[in-house]
Amino acid sequence: MEAVIVAGGFGTRMLPLTERRPKHLLEVGGVPFLEHQITKLAAAGVEHVVLATSYHAELFEPVLGRGERFGVRLTYVTEGEPLGTAGAIRNVAGALGDDPEGAVVVLNGDVLSGHDLAAQLADFERPRDGRVVDVSLHLVEVPDARAFGCVPTDPEGRVLAFVEKSDEPVTNQVNAGCYVFRRRVVDRIPAGRVVSVERETFPELVASGALVVGHVESAYWRDVGNPQALVEASRDVVTGVAPTPAVTPPADGVLVAPDAEVQGAVGLGSSVLAGAFVGEGAAVRGSVLMPGARVGAGAVVEDSVLGPGAVVGDRAVLREVALGDEAVVPEEGKPEGGTRVECGVEWLPG
Ligand code: GDD
Ligand code: MG
Repeated sequence: MEAVIVAGGFGTRMLPLTERRPKHLLEVGGVPFLEHQITKLAAAGVEHVVLATSYHAELFEPVLGRGERFGVRLTYVTEGEPLGTAGAIRNVAGALGDDPEGAVVVLNGDVLSGHDLAAQLADFERPRDGRVVDVSLHLVEVPDARAFGCVPTDPEGRVLAFVEKSDEPVTNQVNAGCYVFRRRVVDRIPAGRVVSVERETFPELVASGALVVGHVESAYWRDVGNPQALVEASRDVVTGVAPTPAVTPPADGVLVAPDAEVQGAVGLGSSVLAGAFVGEGAAVRGSVLMPGARVGAGAVVEDSVLGPGAVVGDRAVLREVALGDEAVVPEEGKPEGGTRVECGVEWLPG
């Protein structure tokens, strides 16, 4: 079986962490995000994964390789200019097998999900009133649906509409970003132009009478699209709340890389990655210290993410702050919650 991961977005909401790399390669629970998805695909029996890349496309292969260590074949197809979510899927058609009735799994490249993909695949292969399913969408219930694609279904699970990001959501049942496509449906997407799967392909498939079904499952699910979500997802992986075949959670719920140096205290759910440093008397809680980040003596870092090589000065206090690569918070600095400091920049009060 085959899968496509669409991983070509700019990651604008993840800035400043995405200034120099795609969000798909940021560490979550100590491993590049896509490892969670690739290992999940492998566990469900997928043998070939195609990464549809664009923004910083050159950075993927050096990190993920050709897939041997995940037990899959990994290939890369790059868009010069981003073609949109459906344009990206159409653009990899040549890399997929050509059995028109085959199943192709498609993942949004930023979703951490514990749902049972094998069960969704089995559901996809179950005909409805003698008809073969064209597309299956994993759906989840969320309290606030405005940031997602709303997907109402009938009592048999057939998708009635697809309404992407609306201020007045018609339902709290939303698109979870894991689809199974019948191979021939991929070829129905127009080639060579920007196409959105959410705004164009799904509404058109539904309108044309294609059999699009919802697969509702309420296991752990999170869109890892901004720094706060990254901090929460990472904490959930490290504490074992988010099931993922990519990581065995440490017994004490704290991830410290072998070559990191911790003199202060590091609390539950935090990750201190390669070469990072936590000074004497410092307290790190529920946070991510990316490789080479440094926390000075007596500093407090809570629910925050420090990009690679970022520096927090002695006795500084950070809560819900995201620092870009090599960003600096000076001694005693106290940025407000929600502050994001660009790569290489020193945060200054006011
Ligand atoms: N190759 C490629 N080319 N990938 C793209 C492009 C493109 O032009 N545009 C976006 N992507 C990738 C992103 O990198 C990401 O992995 C995925 O498509 C989804 O894009 P996001 O920007 O994360 O979308 P979203 O979170 O606002 O909304 C989507 O996900 C929600 C669930 O998390 C939609 O699919 C919603 O309907 C859905 O509810
Ligand atoms: Mg997203």
